Amino acid sequence: MFPYNLDHVAIAVRDLDAAVERYGRLYGAGPLYREVVEAQGVEEAMIPVGGSFVQLLRPLGPDTPVGRFIERRGEGVHHLAFAVADIDAALERLRREGARLVDDTPRRGGRGARIAFVHPDSFASTLVELVELEP
Ligand code: CO
Repeated sequence: MFPYNLDHVAIAVRDLDAAVERYGRLYGAGPLYREVVEAQGVEEAMIPVGGSFVQLLRPLGPDTPVGRFIERRGEGVHHLAFAVADIDAALERLRREGARLVDDTPRRGGRGARIAFVHPDSFASTLVELVELEP
């Protein structure tokens, strides 16, 4: 089964404290936790919504992927993340279907998950992340 859940929708923001505060006032929910993921150059605030999360993403600097995204396009939706049971099988299927992969092999993301990104060229200009959580 691929994917089995919408894990998160990530929104790039300039100021994480301000975004968390405003999101809470507008939508009445706050983050379950925050995490700095140095390898991706971001700090994440994970706000639970049903069985999924809204992930507010702050770049750690201007010269990071999310920093460059905000520079080019401003704040906004950055990617969708699907939870998958077997990320290696999911990548294999995408490769077979001719998708353009950002990551040929999985790397470590937040929550210690194995993650990989699929290039926006592959589907409707939308960056997609696959997440294989620890069982
Ligand atoms: Co993500």
